[in-house]
Amino acid sequence: MKTSAFSLVMFGGTGDLAMRKLLPALYQSFLDGAFEPASRVICAARTVYDDAGYRAWMDEAVKPNVTDRFDEVRWQEFLQHVLYVPFNATDDDAFEQLKAILDAQEPNNQRVFYLAVAPSIFELICEGLAKHALNQNARIVVEKPLGHDLASCIEINDVFAKHFKESQIFRIDHYLGKESVQNLMALRFGNSFFEPILRRDYIANVQITISEELGVERRAEFYDQTGALRDMVQNHLLQLLCFVAMNAPARMDADSIRDEKLAVLRSLKPWTLEDIQNNVVRGQYTAGISQGKPAQAYIAETDVPTNSLTETYVALKTEINNWRFAGVPFYLRTGKRMPKRMAEIVIVFKSVPYELIGKMPAGSNRLVIELQPEESIRMYCLAKRPGNNMKLGAVHLDMDADDFFPERRMDGYERLLLDALRGDLSLFVRRDEQEQAWHWVEPIIDVWQEQNIVPKPYTSGTWGPPAANALVARDGHNWHEEL
Ligand code: BG6
Repeated sequence: MKTSAFSLVMFGGTGDLAMRKLLPALYQSFLDGAFEPASRVICAARTVYDDAGYRAWMDEAVKPNVTDRFDEVRWQEFLQHVLYVPFNATDDDAFEQLKAILDAQEPNNQRVFYLAVAPSIFELICEGLAKHALNQNARIVVEKPLGHDLASCIEINDVFAKHFKESQIFRIDHYLGKESVQNLMALRFGNSFFEPILRRDYIANVQITISEELGVERRAEFYDQTGALRDMVQNHLLQLLCFVAMNAPARMDADSIRDEKLAVLRSLKPWTLEDIQNNVVRGQYTAGISQGKPAQAYIAETDVPTNSLTETYVALKTEINNWRFAGVPFYLRTGKRMPKRMAEIVIVFKSVPYELIGKMPAGSNRLVIELQPEESIRMYCLAKRPGNNMKLGAVHLDMDADDFFPERRMDGYERLLLDALRGDLSLFVRRDEQEQAWHWVEPIIDVWQEQNIVPKPYTSGTWGPPAANALVARDGHNWHEEL
């Protein structure tokens, strides 16, 4: 799809996100021809630079993060599209200056504002933009954390809604930018044989895992206030759940897709106190071995209070109360300092109705969709072992996406930025979806707080606290790695 000329204003232009993800992603889009000659990236931040000074900073700070297709000549050409404006959201003159820069661009450039800044200044920026009529016909792109609970999420969404229509607001969940996540829709709705078996009659359980090897790194200030439930479950894990469980949308347009995702979120089984106590496991990593090296405990990490009770791991069991999935356990888990970095969906099918040929161990039939680091699909089944009797053995059918499609895959941010520049909302989270996700997650936060539920320890480099194994074992199931 063609990208028309744009003026993309990036607030937080010297921040970590711009440096590590956004600017490298824009360079890749530039290489792919997404920049018309009139397109400009206008970076705004507090540091005082002129355009040349900022470009020199990019050379030092951003260039090392371009890990793919780097070419010095093309990089210099890309830099010519980048401008800089010193910007302080409390200063009205800064908006004047920004407006002057925008007005000096081609009048038909699509204006897009990317808020790569702390949520505490969202309101100031939105008001400043509106006061200078910069919100008209523009798009605004925002990222989590959009609130730390339902009320604060509504508050932030109200701020946006005051100055922008919903169709102008692009809420990023970077998981939706991943090729492999979009491929879930292609697999499900582009083929005929998955859909009929994706229902309660055939499925024993569904497991969705996002595991990381890394610890909290240098993000303790943010992470210790946030924890895994807010950081990963409320957004990424629930979005994956939606893609696995949604019905086929009426059309492939943004609202039809988001309507179906919302229907899944609305059908999630409401929590009872007992459910939260029994079916949610909260964990925190202790010292252990990670990536072959000794790793320290979460509470020993830089900037983490030694008495921190923030969870770095969550495993939970839920159900989807609709006709397709009622009664099927969905196990979701995510954590830092786990044995490997991986995002994976495992659909475990029920056993045959009776043992005609031989024993069929639980979990023998399962579909494993690996989303990262590799993109693959593996179907586990049973086949006859060679010999003069009828004995079954485990085999699997494999599809590795790289074998079929060797072409380069876009990074999540690259795809989402391009979509925002083109105005396609399909891979962005709508307000009602996001608030519904908070609505479902919030009782867990409340119960943890009210009942003083502290995280259970798990050793760095393991799959989480033993209670997470008990969670599935109680129902007669096993996590995929145990099968
Ligand atoms: C972010 C979380 O949203 O996702 C991080 O804030 C986490 O804590 C990251 O590390 C994981 O993303 P990915 O794409 O590396 O799986």
